[in-house]
Amino acid sequence: MSDLRRSVTVIGLGPMGRAMVAAFLKAGVEVTVWNRSPEKADAMVQLGARRAATVAEALDANAVVVLSLTHYAAMYDVLGPAADRLRGKVIANLSSDSPGQARRGAAWLRQHGAEFLSGGVMSVGDNIEHPASYIFYSGPRAVFGAHAELLRPLSPQEYLGPDDGLAQVFYQGLLTVFHPWLLAFDQATAMIARSGHDIAQFVPFAVRSSAAFPYFMEQFSVENQNGGWADVAGLRMMDAGAQHIIDASAEVGVDATLSHTAQAFWRRAVAASAAAGRAVSTFELMGAISENS
Ligand SMILES: NC(=O)c1ccc[n+]([C@@H]2O[C@H](COP(=O)([O-])OP(=O)(O)OC[C@H]3O[C@@H](n4cnc5c(N)ncnc54)[C@H](OP(=O)(O)O)[C@@H]3O)[C@@H](O)[C@H]2O)c1
Repeated sequence: MSDLRRSVTVIGLGPMGRAMVAAFLKAGVEVTVWNRSPEKADAMVQLGARRAATVAEALDANAVVVLSLTHYAAMYDVLGPAADRLRGKVIANLSSDSPGQARRGAAWLRQHGAEFLSGGVMSVGDNIEHPASYIFYSGPRAVFGAHAELLRPLSPQEYLGPDDGLAQVFYQGLLTVFHPWLLAFDQATAMIARSGHDIAQFVPFAVRSSAAFPYFMEQFSVENQNGGWADVAGLRMMDAGAQHIIDASAEVGVDATLSHTAQAFWRRAVAASAAAGRAVSTFELMGAISENS
């Protein structure tokens, strides 16, 4: 077996796995690779990685194995047939999935005698070297501590805690914000373009207005830690505002599905407030407060 501190196996050579292999090699770490579609390993071998012919060989090559797969289901497909080779290995699964899948994956690996770390790769696309990229880790602190140095070339590290699902809780939380933002940006720029105006003229203002987002996040997080806050006049104003966006989109034939969804939330909050005799926040509607609390 290779030197524990300077060698690693990477399984999964999609865009992210390939970026990880390149980062390890650049940092002088020896890398063994395996991928279901074997041709994806060719470019990695040209960069200096060693190809394992089988998953068993990939597992035998190193103590630490990084998984970069589409989801946790792929982990069982890949490692299941070679489960007898897992004993004593450290599996750092840096694939995205739900926190529950990460916890079940951790239990499965431990049943087979392996140690587990979960990672959520908060990268700018697959550019793990971008200054804004970093990785959430969770799982046993001692396992993270023992292997943090080896994993450091991948991106700055944020260890969150021992809950095996925690990296995915934070990762999915941030993606929850990112997905609608990305689609809303498409809707906004489509509206600009379909109105016969210049997206390039609009974008600096979008960037300028986004400087207010940290302020709102901090303000709302304080409110949400106390159960959320709303006033009915504000909810009605947001309902009316959503209608203006829907109208502006419709006038130029732009899809306003997101704005209809937003409006439905404001309207539900107005109706819930009327039913409860107090202002009900959208945070509360999201299920933040259980019916029994
Ligand atoms: N790419 C990004 O910008 C980015 C950014 C942050 C986080 N992530 C996360 O990082 C992980 C990897 O990303 P990616 O973009 O490289 O994903 P991807 O393109 O989906 O590739 C993932 C790898 O999973 C393998 N795979 C999928 N299902 C499999 C199965 N049933 N059995 C065996 N292998 C299987 C693929 O093998 P084949 O080559 O044979 O198909 C490929 O090597 C994902 O969880 C993704 O959400 C990605």
